[in-house]
Amino acid sequence: MADPEKKEKKEKKEKREKKEPVRGPEDVEDVWDLHARWWQQGFTEGADSEYEEQILPLVEVQLAGATGVLEVGCGEGQLSRRAATLGVAVVGIDPARAQIHEAVVRGGGPAYVQGRGEQLPFGDCSFDAVVVCLVLEHVDPFEPVLSEMARVLVPGGRLLLFVGHPLVQAPGSCWVDDADFADQYWRLGPYLPDHLTVEEVAPGVALPFWHRPLGRYVHEMGRLGLLVEDMVEPPPPSDVLEGLSGFANASSIPRLLCLRARLAPETPEPEFREARASIHEM
Ligand SMILES: C[S@@+](CC[C@H](N)C(=O)[O-])C[C@H]1O[C@@H](n2cnc3c(N)ncnc32)[C@H](O)[C@@H]1O
Repeated sequence: MADPEKKEKKEKKEKREKKEPVRGPEDVEDVWDLHARWWQQGFTEGADSEYEEQILPLVEVQLAGATGVLEVGCGEGQLSRRAATLGVAVVGIDPARAQIHEAVVRGGGPAYVQGRGEQLPFGDCSFDAVVVCLVLEHVDPFEPVLSEMARVLVPGGRLLLFVGHPLVQAPGSCWVDDADFADQYWRLGPYLPDHLTVEEVAPGVALPFWHRPLGRYVHEMGRLGLLVEDMVEPPPPSDVLEGLSGFANASSIPRLLCLRARLAPETPEPEFREARASIHEM
């Protein structure tokens, strides 16, 4: 008779490979509630070099001068807390109760609300800056979240978006050490097709990652009147480079992309208003 434990493991593996564990937005939120502790321990409060060396300093620089900031998908609030040190009023929103609970415990000034980026519980033109960090690659479709962020921004307000670099980090991309040809190169995986990967980032922690080409994000932003005014592609942080010390050009391939966009005073296309209206009716 088959070992039930082995059978269960096999079924789970098959499910993962068929990409079944994540079916809709609610499932994604459950996943983030379930793994909130894993995220908080591994990526916040100084645990992750990408946040410490790159993301948090960029938040300070890119949000300077803002007066009212909304962070969408704030998790346990590390970006919101950093923004609050600028003396700005900050609100963080996240669907995962376990993240919001921890954000409130960690305090630091921001106010927190539990909710989804697709239905922001704020009026039009409520903020002069909106931040979203490493969230959109976990959300499908991402367009309603972008549309909501544009709606709550004042004309002239800014959107600060961090995403795993869509261009060079397409699924299947990696450094290759080709001993036969004494060559080292970055292999780029299929870039143009949308692709869902359910990645087991730690034992028992499977998370959905949607790859989309960079143009999908920028096109949608442009349609909403969010015009890119800055783009930052930092080289990998120091500990990642140490791990890649065998690759001479490791610092030439970024992992992170940061875009800052400004909401045009007049939105470029009339269907934007219709899209906004339909979001309101949801
Ligand atoms: C990788 S964590 C990033 C957390 C935070 N932005 C940071 O950088 O520390 C992704 C977050 O996105 C949130 N999230 C997932 N789906 C979302 C949605 N539809 N709307 C808003 N946030 C969402 C998750 O709950 C999770 O806290």
